[in-house]
Amino acid sequence: MKQSRARVPTMVLKVAVIGAGASGLTSIKGCLEEGLEPTCFESSHDIGGVWRFKENPEPGRANIYESVIINSSKEMMAYSDFPPPVEFANNMHHSELLQYLRLYVQAFRLQQHIQFQTTVVSVRQTVDFAVSGQWEVETKNAENQKEMRVFDAVIVCTGHFTQPHLPLSDFIGIGSFKGRTLHSWEYRSAEGMQGKNVVVIGIGNSGGDLAVDISRVAKKVYLSTRSGGWVVSRIGQGGLPNDLFGTSRMDLIKSKLFASRINKALEKKLNEALDHTLYGLRPKHGFFAQIPVVNDDLPSRIISGRVQVKPNVKEFFGSSVVFEDETIIDQVDVVVFATGYNYSFPFLPSELQIKCDYRLQLYKHIFPPGLAHPTLAVVGFIHALGAVNPLSEMQARWVTRVFKGLSSLPSAETMEKEIQKDTTAMRQSFKCSERNPLQVVYIPYMDSLAEMLGVRPNIPWLFLTDPRLAQQVLFGPCTPYQYRLTGPGRWAGARHAILTQWERVLQPFRTRLVQQPKTKPQSMWSITVVSLGVALLSYLCCSVYRGSISPLDKLLSCIETR
Ligand SMILES: Cc1cc2nc3c(=O)[nH]c(=O)nc-3n(C[C@H](O)[C@H](O)[C@H](O)COP(=O)(O)OP(=O)(O)OC[C@H]3O[C@@H](n4cnc5c(N)ncnc54)[C@H](O)[C@@H]3O)c2cc1C
Ligand SMILES: *[C@@H]1O[C@H](CO)[C@@H](O)[C@H](O)[C@H]1NC(C)=O
Ligand SMILES: *[C@@H]1O[C@H](CO)[C@@H](O)[C@H](O)[C@H]1NC(C)=O
Repeated sequence: MKQSRARVPTMVLKVAVIGAGASGLTSIKGCLEEGLEPTCFESSHDIGGVWRFKENPEPGRANIYESVIINSSKEMMAYSDFPPPVEFANNMHHSELLQYLRLYVQAFRLQQHIQFQTTVVSVRQTVDFAVSGQWEVETKNAENQKEMRVFDAVIVCTGHFTQPHLPLSDFIGIGSFKGRTLHSWEYRSAEGMQGKNVVVIGIGNSGGDLAVDISRVAKKVYLSTRSGGWVVSRIGQGGLPNDLFGTSRMDLIKSKLFASRINKALEKKLNEALDHTLYGLRPKHGFFAQIPVVNDDLPSRIISGRVQVKPNVKEFFGSSVVFEDETIIDQVDVVVFATGYNYSFPFLPSELQIKCDYRLQLYKHIFPPGLAHPTLAVVGFIHALGAVNPLSEMQARWVTRVFKGLSSLPSAETMEKEIQKDTTAMRQSFKCSERNPLQVVYIPYMDSLAEMLGVRPNIPWLFLTDPRLAQQVLFGPCTPYQYRLTGPGRWAGARHAILTQWERVLQPFRTRLVQQPKTKPQSMWSITVVSLGVALLSYLCCSVYRGSISPLDKLLSCIETR
């Protein structure tokens, strides 16, 4: 089917993994699973990447604020052979997610493969790359000592929320603004914003979170958005995690068959919960065209007047901000730019850093197509309406198979065509592809890699052999364990993990045991009442029919005699 362009040269053994965040950790695991020898270089002193909370922003690294909780629930954000502990919250705080990563590291003994405080400064092809496919990796330690080592392959996992994107030149008069300005990348908490007037620019996930956070202490928060956004809650039916509903394979099939109808129905449902037009949030784009704003508190901050939604900023004027509708807010103390991120790979050869708009030229968002050997891969440079961990894990599993020559890449031309094709498809399906350039549709993307890996679940076969499991796989949430049922890396616990996933969802709620309302006795009682009623009615009817004494009299006399 696929013509192998370049055989993997000699046996790939030694692999350099750059970064020990969620993507790097699962890449180390992927190497071990395939019998490769990973060495992970992490520039900081600890694992976790973005999930390791830093009091002060560290240049070149992704950062989070104190209040971050995950926006996809734990079962959807799990690694496929490592279900989160049953007692962990569904939408964990960032510190609990870091704990989950630590458990993963322990369980698969990943730590011994990580060299901390070691920064990769350069990755270059060896002189005999055409033959060997090897790379020279230069690192620098905390004492600034450099070291050069040769690796058979390299996986880049350095994250893509690393540099604040601060389009100051788009804002007229920002130079005259007297107050404080900061990017969401620097934001830790609302400390210091008590009683202030704050403008938050941008309504991505960060902009929504920051507006809510700051509005609890500020005098007023103005949330400025050019295009608006669909606001969805983490909390779904009956209080269960929202992302467990509507995300099954069956739902995907339905949304393919009835795209516009499903879109309309979804928007209707969202507007019933929160009229996006009334709240000034309604975007021009449909629900699936952009990752929604996951926020449970924003509506209540708006209804209480603590947050006001405003259009795009037109200009700054001293301490005043003028919006595009010509409204002016005076005495603004702080402006927070939640305007997104940029990324770069300063250590890679320049020909591998070429971006087309914001996107790197990578086949399946992973492999640069122009290399003589497929021995360099990028993992975790992807966005979807779904969690990153399982996406990175799937990428890493495929990458290690390619490194070993067990799965091959198409020719460079085919890969380039494919990249063009997905970029075009992405532009058609998603709005703002320039700022959101790494977007894929979750299940189809996972399945396409799973197919090449040979781990895609065979649903018709499952229905024949294990209907109970098949039903969960097709109609239940598409949890990552589905990709461990068959093929390389098959995990014997996968079936059990799927069949017990709802149990792990329910357990963290059981913090105060409340008796289920006694449904059985109650229904017995109502059956008795109904049967008594029916008996009485038929008795009365019969009495009237028989023309005997007045049924009411008879009844009263019964009661009296008791
Ligand atoms: C505020 C915020 C909230 C988020 N919430 C969610 C969420 O709820 N769900 C979700 O799925 N995703 C979320 N994300 C996306 C998140 O980035 C990914 O989930 C994922 O954790 C990224 O992991 P990573 O390993 O690819 O990158 P990172 O976590 O950024 O890790 C990269 C690592 O590489 C290291 N590194 C960088 N350069 C070098 C070098 N030259 N040499 C050595 N080491 C280097 C860094 O120190 C870092 O440890 C969120 C992101 C942000 C910013
Ligand atoms: C992103 O970063 C690259 C390299 O650091 C830079 O050339 C580019 O202009 C930046 N893009 C944006 C939109 O900030
Ligand atoms: C969760 O938030 C991150 C960072 O803001 C974003 O990249 C990701 O797409 C969001 N996920 C969902 C499911 O909305």
